[in-house]
Amino acid sequence: KIPLLIDTDPGVDDALALLMAFADAQHEVVALTVAAGNVGLEYTVRNALKLCEVAGREDVPVFAGTADPLVYPAEDAAHVHGRDGFGDVDLPLTARKVEAEHAALAILRLSHQYAGELLLVALGPLTNIALALKLDPSLPQRVKRFVVMGGAITGHGNITPAAEFNIAFDPEAAHIVFSTFPFIEVADWEATIAHGLMHRDVEQWLAADTAKARFYELISRKTRLWSEDSRGERWYAADALAMAWALQPEGGKVVEQRPLSIELTGSRSRGATIVDWNRQTGAPDNTALLIGYDQARFEAQVQRALGL
Ligand code: BDR
Ligand code: CA
Repeated sequence: KIPLLIDTDPGVDDALALLMAFADAQHEVVALTVAAGNVGLEYTVRNALKLCEVAGREDVPVFAGTADPLVYPAEDAAHVHGRDGFGDVDLPLTARKVEAEHAALAILRLSHQYAGELLLVALGPLTNIALALKLDPSLPQRVKRFVVMGGAITGHGNITPAAEFNIAFDPEAAHIVFSTFPFIEVADWEATIAHGLMHRDVEQWLAADTAKARFYELISRKTRLWSEDSRGERWYAADALAMAWALQPEGGKVVEQRPLSIELTGSRSRGATIVDWNRQTGAPDNTALLIGYDQARFEAQVQRALGL
């Protein structure tokens, strides 16, 4: 099995991605490292532990990362995910505790343990991975693939007109990561939009009589209502699409390689992902950009994640 390390800020769509990863027969989730993002670290850690419990994988260690972005304070996405990040449904707390080791150190240690084999997937702000890279810039040499959910590659942002949430939350961290990692596979917000799930299909899947579907129906209810009101008939599960591609890269129908850098300044463009589509800068192609994924495959992966 391929060892899989997930850095995440759960988060309703993170939760679906994690269930998908746990359900995949080809991959073994070796740890969750947790970032602040959708909500504060206290909640994202709590949610990661909860998710392991729901998946029946309490053996998977959970490591807490850094509570704040590297330089500037940022705003969370509680308006999308609920104040607790999991839809404000008062879930009972999990007894299990987070590990003592810091997420950035755990990432480095596991990169040695699984050197040359590791699939690293980032589903939240890149703070922990940036710290790991600052501590040890040789990290990329030990990672086989690195998949990031983040960015808005033609400028269709979701948190600002120019920027996607994960990058906008900690642009300096994203800059460190994109300027240090030689090759990153990016599933951005626009790929998410191209692969929305029809609410009526999701509702049907969530009505299934499985523990995972029941849990997910509960925690996603608030965000699905918000999404239907504000965005229409499709629901955008960004992290689930990124995970689907990470687990089954053969489902990526259109993938473009280009140089990508992060905008750190700009009164309207901070956090934008600048793709050098025409290769004008001479910078190396440091990213593979997901443009199109096999939708039927994605929907099958979502259903399997829910235990259908
Ligand atoms: C990303 O931001 C978060 O709100 C989601 O969990 C996802 O990782 C989408 O922009
Ligand atoms: Ca996320």
